[in-house]
Amino acid sequence: MPEKSITITKDGPYLVKGGVPLNEKIMVSVGHHREYQQGRVFDQQEQYALCRCGLSKNPPFCDGTHAECGFDGHETASTVPFNERIELFEGPTLDLYDDNRCAFARFCHREGKEVWTLTEESDNEPERTDAILASTECPSGRLVHHDKRNDYAEIEPELEPEISVLQDPERGVSACLFVKGGIPLQSAEGFLYETRNRYALCRCGHSANKPFCDARHVNEGYVDGLE
Ligand code: FES
Repeated sequence: MPEKSITITKDGPYLVKGGVPLNEKIMVSVGHHREYQQGRVFDQQEQYALCRCGLSKNPPFCDGTHAECGFDGHETASTVPFNERIELFEGPTLDLYDDNRCAFARFCHREGKEVWTLTEESDNEPERTDAILASTECPSGRLVHHDKRNDYAEIEPELEPEISVLQDPERGVSACLFVKGGIPLQSAEGFLYETRNRYALCRCGHSANKPFCDARHVNEGYVDGLE
């Protein structure tokens, strides 16, 4: 089997290779935190093209509409590595690396606090536990804790390679593509982005930080029309 990969095509879709499982996850609030609920599971395909312009009539797949609508998919995201791009938030038992790439999934808010406060209060066990959940469940990968109790090890969830099409019914919108398990991402210009365990790709076509999600789907009221 060829290696799993995602290749961005110029002003067109994401070409996914290597039999990457594809499913849909619904983001919901349960009590005072967020969870992923299982949505549809799509047939396993060796290779497929996921819509990046937001206008396909066969979502989440590309149907060629990008060519008719003149989609400008120019990539604008920084290629500086994560660890050189982050802001550091220090806490007593955890440090938080934050690159500020918000996909507005809201997993960083838990039990009335948010991940930055929870990090500051991480000498309390419940806050420490919630801080780690708040960072590791975020689809964008923007939040990474380092554990001061364990040689400053990076705390990342173990994720099998998979792509989840996210939905945000509370906001009445469709959200990003949640890419898991360290799938290499190649630019339309041919270079490889830094391979990350988790990242969120724009699929509404409006991000100002392409190819990554910057939460514009919320303001744009993007609904994929998946039925
Ligand atoms: S990228 Fe092809 S239809 Fe959207």
